[in-house]
Amino acid sequence: MDACANKIELARSFRGRSVRRMFAQISPRYDLMNRLMSAGQDLRWRRLTVQAAGLRPGDLLLDVAAGTGDVARVARTLIPDLRVVAADFSLEMMRVGRNKARAGRRGGQRARPEDWAGADTYILPFPSERFDAVTSAFLLRNLDDPLAALREQVRVLKPAGRLVALDATPPPANRVRPLVNFYLGRFCPLLGGLVAGQPEAYRYLPNSIANFRRPEGLVTLFREASLQQVHYRPLMLGTAAIVVGTRPAEQ
Ligand SMILES: C[S@@+](CC[C@H](N)C(=O)[O-])C[C@H]1O[C@@H](n2cnc3c(N)ncnc32)[C@H](O)[C@@H]1O
Repeated sequence: MDACANKIELARSFRGRSVRRMFAQISPRYDLMNRLMSAGQDLRWRRLTVQAAGLRPGDLLLDVAAGTGDVARVARTLIPDLRVVAADFSLEMMRVGRNKARAGRRGGQRARPEDWAGADTYILPFPSERFDAVTSAFLLRNLDDPLAALREQVRVLKPAGRLVALDATPPPANRVRPLVNFYLGRFCPLLGGLVAGQPEAYRYLPNSIANFRRPEGLVTLFREASLQQVHYRPLMLGTAAIVVGTRPAEQ
């Protein structure tokens, strides 16, 4: 199968369709659930993610799987004149994000608005070497083939640009792990049922984390996607990580 047909195949996958349906269902309460589940820490993680991207005023950022646009919003407020494209395959998530952005502008927020793009992460509708940095938050663990997604992100990244991914990772094997597992496996689905009316979606969450890679495995994946200077920063007792890599200046 050629590379393009493979991308289309991945974009049409059963998992992709069910993930998209799930995010459409939870979109109205997605932000509130994030704030509650992370005790407000998710905004700090998004800020660290943007800071790790090494952006300068006037740069162009692509935030893949932007959801309701929180990474894009943080980026616009941190870096003057930043141009941001927020891309996701869930129209419902992006609709919530666009309404938030409009409300922010009515409330006097002055930063340049982001552009929204309906896009599957496996086939990004952008020319090669277009963006100064590419970020994603909580995307990779939802994918059948995270390496293919990273390669596609590298394609649209300028040489010497940074690729940054924030995601939840399986907790390290220590005394805290049973607590984390209880929190993710029992408390979050309960909360998801009460607040979002979607306990199933929040049962998917601990499963997707348990089946995902530890940060060291993500570093390997980044290197396989031909990124260099790869490193990570663990967050929240090792239950999340920010992984950073740089596209080689010459390829
Ligand atoms: C957990 S949410 C994260 C949203 C946002 N990045 C944030 O920080 O809140 C995962 C997002 O990934 C999107 N997503 C999952 N698979 C995708 C794919 N193959 N292509 C594009 N977006 C995808 C979902 O629609 C959802 O908005």
